[in-house]
Amino acid sequence: MSLERPDPVLERARSHAQSYLGGLATRHLGVKVGRDELLTNLHTPFAEHGDDPTSIIDLLASQAEVGMTACSSPRYFGFVIGGTYPVALAADWLVSTWDQNAGIHAISPFSAVVEEIAAEWILELFDLPRESSVGFVTGCQMANFTCLAAARHSVLRRRGWDVELDGLAGAPRVNIVIGAGAHVTIEVAMRYLGFGTRSLLRVESDEQGRMRADSLRELMATLDGPTIICAQAGNVNSGSFDPLREIAEIAHESDAWLHVDSAFGLWARASTSLATHADGIELADSWATDAHKWLNVPYDSGLAIVKHPADHRAAMTSAASYLIQTQGTERDSLDWVPEFSRRARAIPVYATLRALGRKGVENLVDRNCARARQMVAELSKEAGVEILNDVVLNQALVRFGDDDDLTRAVVSGVQAEGTCWLSGTSWNGAAAMRVSVSNWATSEDDISRSAAAILAVYRGLQGS
Ligand SMILES: Cc1ncc(COP(=O)(O)O)c(C=O)c1O
Repeated sequence: MSLERPDPVLERARSHAQSYLGGLATRHLGVKVGRDELLTNLHTPFAEHGDDPTSIIDLLASQAEVGMTACSSPRYFGFVIGGTYPVALAADWLVSTWDQNAGIHAISPFSAVVEEIAAEWILELFDLPRESSVGFVTGCQMANFTCLAAARHSVLRRRGWDVELDGLAGAPRVNIVIGAGAHVTIEVAMRYLGFGTRSLLRVESDEQGRMRADSLRELMATLDGPTIICAQAGNVNSGSFDPLREIAEIAHESDAWLHVDSAFGLWARASTSLATHADGIELADSWATDAHKWLNVPYDSGLAIVKHPADHRAAMTSAASYLIQTQGTERDSLDWVPEFSRRARAIPVYATLRALGRKGVENLVDRNCARARQMVAELSKEAGVEILNDVVLNQALVRFGDDDDLTRAVVSGVQAEGTCWLSGTSWNGAAAMRVSVSNWATSEDDISRSAAAILAVYRGLQGS
């Protein structure tokens, strides 16, 4: 390995990165090769002696070019995947360069202070209770887990049970209530937390995937004991919001902990015109969201926000005699997240929030939602194209010819054609194409080009 500073391999990586970014606006979005070809090109027996670093970086760049979908393209509408603002990427490069272990203040006061400020801005942006604590985790899965660990601690503590000391064996039974449209990561978090999934109490949803408040009320009337309710802001398919104010009132009446999985829906709070969808969300006890989705910072970046810092900290903190931990106002990140050592992932969040300001975030959210409505308007001009959801946010569900096979064929055809990239789903029992507009750079022209490509594939398949 070279000891030169700067190392030429870094210059090579920078040049590959620039050429990838430069090609995003025009490139084919799909993968061009499969596992076999990638293995042929990348696999070698583990070598006795190492290779030249620059040629390894060249090899990785060449295989990435053909072997991955271009998720950061402005015409990528798959799953709910944001792009990356240049300032976020620049900050992230520096995070890797500095290689800080952001677990405790003593190692990296800089990372701890940046995190503290980013946390303050997040609470202000979403107008959540300012006393809340914030953990910077890898994504919404871990944000759900972290928040629900705090919930588990709190509801059992209030029944005189210390789950951190005594575990769940012999503990009072906790009722866990989730919506029928809950994201799978809620169930996974329940598995991690030792609750399992068999006993989850599911409340039916309406046709948009929203939890029915009347059904929740009926269920709650039958329950006794510690209870956690998981609501949702932003259904992964339809973008719909549970009736949060009503759910919060029901939760408060029964002293239940209310958690809101709001991986992207919480960002509606940044928009004057969309905030109404998330009305009442501020009355919850915890919120899980992502920065790698709608804030457009690089993976991985999620936020676990808890109104009750003592419960949050009790569920997450670690202590060891060799650590230098703070006792006062300084922040040790490991108090708020499942990880011990960790990346300083709040730095790109800080940089992006600072670069955008409140208006910039609002504009991003409004713009993406307007582009989703544009896509729907352009697609639904065509006979046989049906929009299955109320497009309240950045998500749309599209069905072709009222036919499952045709709809799935359009999704695969669009992926192969390469102008844009979308994925499929099943919605109320019918196959649908999902459109998620979450990239800061998506323009009106990107939507028009993509809609034209989708319709061309559809027309081509109709006769076949
Ligand atoms: C509502 C919801 N919750 C949780 C998640 C999981 O987020 P992550 O992939 O960041 O863990 C998603 C992902 O799309 C989501 O839409």
